[in-house]
This record gives sequence, C-alpha cells and structure tokens, in this order.
Amino acid sequence: MKPEARIAVCPGSFDPVTYGHLDIFGRAAQLYDEVWVAVFHNASKNALFSVEERVELLRETTADIPNVRIASFRGLVVDFCQKHGAGVLVKGVRAVSDFDYELQMAQMNYGLRGIETVFIPTNPLYSFLSSSMVKDVAKWGGDISPYAPEIVQSRLIERLGQD
Ligand code: PNS
Repeated sequence: MKPEARIAVCPGSFDPVTYGHLDIFGRAAQLYDEVWVAVFHNASKNALFSVEERVELLRETTADIPNVRIASFRGLVVDFCQKHGAGVLVKGVRAVSDFDYELQMAQMNYGLRGIETVFIPTNPLYSFLSSSMVKDVAKWGGDISPYAPEIVQSRLIERLGQD
C-alpha cells in the first residue's frame, strides 16, 4: 500500500457476520483504499463461533470486495490501527440507541491515539438486525436467509443442530 493510502478498520465481534455488517464493509470499501475487518478476541463474551471460524466466514463472504482484508486482534483497537497504518475506524450505526456507547468509544479511541471514527448509518433494511438476533431466530428454526449469506446460514444450522 502506498504511504498516503487511506486505510480504515471495521472492528467487531462478528459472531457471525450478517448482511448488516457486509453492507457497511462494502460502503467503507468505496470510501477508503483499504479496509481491515478486525475480529476482536473477547474473552468475556460467550461466542458461538471461534475467532478462527468467524475470520473464515468473513473471508468467504467478503471475497468479492477486493480492498477488504480480514484479521483478528487482541487488546486495543487503536493498536491494531497503528500496526496497519489506519487512521480511521468505520462503524455502522443502526439507531440512536447505538450511538450512546459508540460515541464514548469514539472519544476514547481519539483520546488514546488520535484515531478518528466515521459513522455510517445502517441501511434501514438492516436497522433492527444483530448477530444475536440472527442466532436466536436460527436456533428456533426461523428463516434467516434475508439476513445472512448462505454459508453463514449453513454453519449456524450445523452448530445449532437444526435442519
Ligand atoms: O461487535 P461488538 O462486540 O459490538 O464490537 C465491540 C468492539 C470489538 C468494537 C469493541 O469492544 C472494541 O473496540 N474492543 C477492543 C478493545 C478496545 O480497544 N477498547 C477500548 C476502546 S472502546
């Protein structure tokens, strides 16, 4: 990457990735030269998929966006940004209720290393969507095809023991 390249990071748990996330990655990829999707190793969250599985699902589902890269990280997101030469975090905001905590994180990340945060309003098609909700619907046999790519659907069904 050229030194003046504009590099952004989209951090999150992505347990698993949904169309809501993919919409934000695609839009971030239009705005920046390179976009790193960074999966946080969060020991305090009880995840359904391992970090490696989440990274693999992200790689498969973003394969059509050439300037998106996938990685995982431990520790502070601002350190991940620094390591990859990124000056900006890109986050999707679904509703005003998301904004409260996102604003605190943005201010902390700016304070820590001067990393800016750019908020992209979630496509209204996905404004109610979350990984937790997709997992819950899948668990009880509901149709999640409007909300997650086929590979995610089949991994969820496999993991949750539905058919
Ligand atoms: O998908 P999530 O779980 O809402 O994502 C939260 C995430 C991973 C973006 C946030 O917890 C984070 O950035 N964690 C890394 C640790 C860190 O840098 N904390 C201080 C700034 S908030």
